[in-house]
Amino acid sequence: MGKVQELKEEIAQYKAANKDALEEFRMRFISRKSVIGELFSEIKNIAPEERKGFGQQINELKDAAENKFKSLVKELGNQEEEREGQAVDVSLPPLTDTLGSIHPLTIVRARFIEIFERIGFTVSDGPEIEDDWHNFTALNFPENHPAREMQDTFFIKKDPDIALRTHTSNVQIRVMETQEPPIRTLAPGRVFRNEAISARAHCVFHQVEGLYIDRNVSFKDLKHALYYFAREMFTKDTEVRLRPSYFPFTEPSAELDITCLVCGGKGCNICKYTGWVEIGGAGMVDPNVMANCGIDPEEYTGYAFGLGIERIALLKYEIKDLRLFTENDIRFLQQFKSQGF
Ligand code: PHE
Repeated sequence: MGKVQELKEEIAQYKAANKDALEEFRMRFISRKSVIGELFSEIKNIAPEERKGFGQQINELKDAAENKFKSLVKELGNQEEEREGQAVDVSLPPLTDTLGSIHPLTIVRARFIEIFERIGFTVSDGPEIEDDWHNFTALNFPENHPAREMQDTFFIKKDPDIALRTHTSNVQIRVMETQEPPIRTLAPGRVFRNEAISARAHCVFHQVEGLYIDRNVSFKDLKHALYYFAREMFTKDTEVRLRPSYFPFTEPSAELDITCLVCGGKGCNICKYTGWVEIGGAGMVDPNVMANCGIDPEEYTGYAFGLGIERIALLKYEIKDLRLFTENDIRFLQQFKSQGF
């Protein structure tokens, strides 16, 4: 009985400052091998007339231990919560997230779209893996003609030919096949050509193709649209020059130059001292192409152009090496943080 009393006091005064102390309490008073368990096994040695009283005593002791354990667990939990609460110093300035920046190619593409949306153009999409018809044949590339070699194609499959599209002109075909004129749309996207990667060329790059089909569309409309675009994309005094060229899908065709932004047309090493830099191709949609897509070339005419996004970004931001666009170098990308569209 004296022992029971001692243990009662020990339990009442027990303080658990941490989890180890709590565990010690559990081992000593609650677990199967606890001192209280030992007392239970003593019962058989007690004189029969005292057994009942003794049993009651240790049952009380057992309850006291369990209640104490519960309150110790609760206390310890409260202390931890308080400590956690103190770890937040609300007077400290907030941690700022590192803000990302918009990729220069994304900026140029968005600006491009915005400029043409203002004059009624929509945006169309098409597949990057394309069949021969949409990438070549419908665009008036004659079968087995060397013109197909103009663009070093990555073929995926032969007979029937499936390739990575070499230009976004495939979208022009898909739109004309499915829509009625008037058509006024842009096709921005990724294109692929088997070229060695260098400061000026890459095997994966981006284009925006424009297509306008309606009654009485003329070369004058094309020239005006390109003037308008160049001045909105670059500077107000950018000049545009169209040089005669050849594309199977346009007739007449032209190469599009703008005044060199670096020297303002005076001549420098960027423009190879000509004062002009090339940004893409353009022309009047060949009647054969329209007919291939079920549009009557007697009734409608149209223009198309295709410009390189990388090329525009290089000129606009005076970037010397287009490999920078795909290297993901934070020091390069962060420079575009403050650039809006
Ligand atoms: N598809 C041509 C190219 O990638 C560009 C172009 C588009 C030229 C539309 C004329 C008209 O080279």
